[in-house]
Parts: sequence; structure tokens; C-alpha cells
Amino acid sequence: MPKVTYITHKGEEHVVDVPAGQSIMEGAVKNGVPGIDADCGGACACATCHVYVDDAWAAKTGKASSMEESMLDFANEVEPTSRLSCQINISAELDGLVVRLPKSQH
Ligand code: FES
Repeated sequence: MPKVTYITHKGEEHVVDVPAGQSIMEGAVKNGVPGIDADCGGACACATCHVYVDDAWAAKTGKASSMEESMLDFANEVEPTSRLSCQINISAELDGLVVRLPKSQH
């Protein structure tokens, strides 16, 4: 099963097995990883699942859709590799993915 490493703002690493087809957001919420609120439950309508994709993985996770880009405008401290984690589905190609979590989702 693909592994995803979530690094909190404080530098704590959480390595989680995320089944292919689940989103990065679901992988965090279902495994108790702190730092992703996901208020809208994955509908790309809240921007509280903001993560920073590690530079080494940014090409593999692809670009945000225009809808996701619009929602990212509501996130804090957006960076070039910012994504909404409900919009990235895990696949075998993303095994080993590393994402960092922002200081706050609000
Ligand atoms: S969970 Fe709401 S935008 Fe991702």
C-alpha cells in the first residue's frame, strides 16, 4: 500500500499507509494525523485541507485544477507547491509522497 509522510508544522513526521484511490486528506483524517481540518469533507469547497507538496514530488502530483486554484485563494501562506489535499488521490506512483502541513488551516 502506498505510504504518505505528513510533516507537521512542528516537524513531527507521520507515516501512513493510504490505500490507492483515497485522497491525501482522507489518509490524514482517517489516521488521526493532526493539522488537516477538511471542513467540507473533500468537496473542494473549504480550503482547510491545505498542504505543501514536497518539491521532489510536485511534478508527480500534477497541477491544481482551476476550481482548486480558486479555493486556494482562501488558504493562508500559499506557496508554489500548495495543494488542497482532498484533490490529490493516492496511486502506486505516489508511494513515498511527502507533504508538509501549514501552521494553521484558518
Ligand atoms: S476538504 Fe474542503 S477543500 Fe479539501
